[in-house]
Amino acid sequence: MTIHSIRKICCIGAGYVGGPTMAVIADRCPEIQVQVVDLNESRIAAWNDPDFSKLPVYEPGLDVVVSRARGRNLHFSTEVDAAIADADMVFISVNTPTKTKGLGAGQASDLRWVEACARQVAQCAQGHTIVVEKSTLPVRTAVAIKTILEAAHPQVADASSSTSFSVLSNPEFLAEGTAIDDLESPDRVLIGGADQEAIEALAAVYGHWVPGEKILRTNLWSSELSKLTANAFLAQRISSINSVAALCEVTGADVREVAKAIGTDSRIGSKFLQAGPGFGGSCFQKDILNLVYLSHHFGLPEVADYWQSVVSLNTWQQHRISRLVVQKLFGTVTGKRVTLLGFAFKADTNDTREAPAIRIARDLLEEGAQLAIYDPKVESEQIARDLNLPASSAPAAQAGPTRAALSGEGTWWPSNSVDEAVSGSDAVLILTEWNQFRELDWTTLASLMRQPAWVFDARAVVDPARVAEAGLMLWRVGDGDA
Ligand code: UDX
Ligand code: ADP
Repeated sequence: MTIHSIRKICCIGAGYVGGPTMAVIADRCPEIQVQVVDLNESRIAAWNDPDFSKLPVYEPGLDVVVSRARGRNLHFSTEVDAAIADADMVFISVNTPTKTKGLGAGQASDLRWVEACARQVAQCAQGHTIVVEKSTLPVRTAVAIKTILEAAHPQVADASSSTSFSVLSNPEFLAEGTAIDDLESPDRVLIGGADQEAIEALAAVYGHWVPGEKILRTNLWSSELSKLTANAFLAQRISSINSVAALCEVTGADVREVAKAIGTDSRIGSKFLQAGPGFGGSCFQKDILNLVYLSHHFGLPEVADYWQSVVSLNTWQQHRISRLVVQKLFGTVTGKRVTLLGFAFKADTNDTREAPAIRIARDLLEEGAQLAIYDPKVESEQIARDLNLPASSAPAAQAGPTRAALSGEGTWWPSNSVDEAVSGSDAVLILTEWNQFRELDWTTLASLMRQPAWVFDARAVVDPARVAEAGLMLWRVGDGDA
């Protein structure tokens, strides 16, 4: 078997997955030219910005990797067709959100962007092209991609004289916030496919920096299903620990002690046992809903119900937190100021997709709260889009509630610092575990708040003793004593 040596890669989609993944491939494989293309002109302009703090994706270490490779063998452009024509390997790394309408709405993935890509590849590719599914896709999507590719270019016996394709599945397991570490030292790289030559060509790309034993080869379906299953298992651990957190709160147990006690069992392991406001991010919910859809489709309703319960528990946890904020604030937040610290779905990212803050903020707005929102990385335009509500101007810290506020109209405004956000608030609700929230000076903050004031720590990042010293009341997720 001759291994097809890859010289030119094109990646369609310059998002959270495509951008960092290609930056690391280009960095580690200087002899491969990597073109990252996207239809979104402003996104591409941001990837090309001379100021590395303006890259469209915030990831620790990404700026350094991009600065080493950009202009050398890493290029960002909107010339999709030309990049496809030039490439011997095309990664499809476009968005695949849950469908919002039509067949499978609320569960199945919306594959319109993947399909559009496949058609574009079919039209523009030249010679033999290896097409790699990078986006998380429902099982058996590779068949759809292959069918589209082959319909456009029926293969002839002499492959050298025509365009031909191999389709591989190569799911990405990086987590946001640690993407560069995850890409540079992955637990494993998974390549699914039937064409051994194509598999080895892709394995050789990763072989530049990933030890051979960590490169797993499977058939296409196992690879696609493994990605969904890995995310479902991870999400299931979070729903499990969040369900136990609620039990801890009513029984006097502490979920961190329980997590430690069970996590020392090597069969259970200690990771992913952090109780919180529920999982967010672009993958967990989408992938589980995909499993639910698939299970129904294949006549396995019990399997579908099992996985659905992981998502339902997560939604419940988010509503539970907004409900208890209202209850502790004497049953009403109408006209009250509540500070939200953190809006991203986890620390060290500017991504807000499915962030627990969205559902919780919406609940509180519905109750008529006035929300001061501070996140060190999320832009206010993004928050406005997520809440489907434009920002109001920030009222003076000591101003009492306006007539509109008391009439029950929820509003929000962005704050530039924790102090500014907290001033005049009745409560602080911590929703993202940014490091800076671990070190807050609660005595100073308490002096800026309207008393009696509460701290709701949905990420368990504060030191309870320091909050108590400041004379503030505290609720901490999973803490039966708080
Ligand atoms: C996840 C998978 O980890 C990754 O392998 C896959 O490629 C994409 O989906 P990501 O969504 O970026 O990555 O972040 P992750 O660290 O998994 O966190 C997901 C959510 O779970 C976040 O909202 C996080 O705050 C929450 N979480 C995580 C917890 O609430 N508790 C934990 O113990 C761990
Ligand atoms: P992910 O987290 O999977 O990377 P993102 O939404 O961050 O998802 O990125 C997906 C990117 O794919 C977006 O920037 C979008 O503009 C781009 N995209 C979607 N369809 C196409 C297409 N047909 N051609 C080029 N780019 C596309």
